[in-house]
Amino acid sequence: MTPFLVIRQSSDYPVYVERGALDRVGEAVRPRGRVFVITSHALRERFGMRVARSFRDAEILTIEEGEANKTLATANDVVTQLLDRGARRDAMAVVVGGGMLGDTAGFAASIYLRGIDLVHVPTTLLAQVDSSIGGKLAVNHEKGKNLIGSFYPPRAVVSDLEVLDTLPPRERLSGLYEALKGGVIGDPLLFERFEGDAFDLDAVVRAAIRVKAEIVSADEREADLRRLLNYGHTIAHGIEAALHYEGLTHGEAVAWGMIGANAIAVRRGLLARDEAARIERAIRKYEPSPLPKLDRRDILAATEHDKKNTGTARVMVFPRKVGECVVVSDVTEDEIAYGIDAIL
Ligand SMILES: NC(=O)c1ccc[n+]([C@@H]2O[C@H](COP(=O)([O-])OP(=O)(O)OC[C@H]3O[C@@H](n4cnc5c(N)ncnc54)[C@H](O)[C@@H]3O)[C@@H](O)[C@H]2O)c1
Repeated sequence: MTPFLVIRQSSDYPVYVERGALDRVGEAVRPRGRVFVITSHALRERFGMRVARSFRDAEILTIEEGEANKTLATANDVVTQLLDRGARRDAMAVVVGGGMLGDTAGFAASIYLRGIDLVHVPTTLLAQVDSSIGGKLAVNHEKGKNLIGSFYPPRAVVSDLEVLDTLPPRERLSGLYEALKGGVIGDPLLFERFEGDAFDLDAVVRAAIRVKAEIVSADEREADLRRLLNYGHTIAHGIEAALHYEGLTHGEAVAWGMIGANAIAVRRGLLARDEAARIERAIRKYEPSPLPKLDRRDILAATEHDKKNTGTARVMVFPRKVGECVVVSDVTEDEIAYGIDAIL
């Protein structure tokens, strides 16, 4: 297989994007020792076995899925299973699944014997365009999401576009909004794909991977540029926390968060009203679940814990136009309240 692109980080790694790639993972990567395919019970037969068969002698481990299981305990379960099977430093972990599996089993691989080779085989749209790209891994702590983790570039990412055919509609939508976000922050043509009538998912996935790959290649450890990826996320995190992570997918929360951020950007004079309306039209076209009845104060309070806030300054990302965003670090609480009111 030929890589679609190569991500330049502390170690470079190729991203393969092809239909039918599941059966060719073993061709794309070169293991040094034993291969452990790590997946869930639900995905084992459909995807895990195919990936395992693409290697000569891969073994399969399974863990529990679900955001509630994205914990140190589950990562420890992976470590225990690897120890039980006698995996050595030269072992390779090939993680097959969505972002939950990628984060949890990936994190386990990053700490097992101080780190073994890791390959991501993302099977959700969100994992293909977002979580598998960039080398960030994290599990949740009872005090908050994604508080324990590492920066750990994989050896490769192998995305099979065919697996997206079986994705439940809301999981698909969740990834779609992260891809649309990529268009607003860095690729007007990608954005236009969401406006047009003939929607080409394969092309959207490729373009969205490209936007994220360019950003994380220039900024591996979230210094500055990478903050652009947080467009829509300040208010989204507030919504998700206020909803106790139920009712809306992450991508849908980001969809509402983008509309809220745009309202602030218009008020600041950064974004033309027409352009904001254009972005909102594209977002609504894919029909995000309606925002449940929430108290503005609950959303606002939850945005306080946003990881992007350094000290007391409130950092947000605003579009200037489709394809160009800026990071602004003096956003007031009042402004965020205004953005929240715009969507409630
Ligand atoms: N590390 C990062 O940079 C990063 C970035 C964004 C998100 N994330 C994390 O990703 C997680 C969300 O990932 P997700 O949206 O992929 O959800 P998920 O991993 O929880 O998967 C959602 C569901 O889809 C099912 N599924 C997976 N592939 C399928 C397929 N092809 N067909 C049918 N069903 C399939 C799974 O079994 C699961 O039930 C969150 O924990 C989030 O924090 C991480």
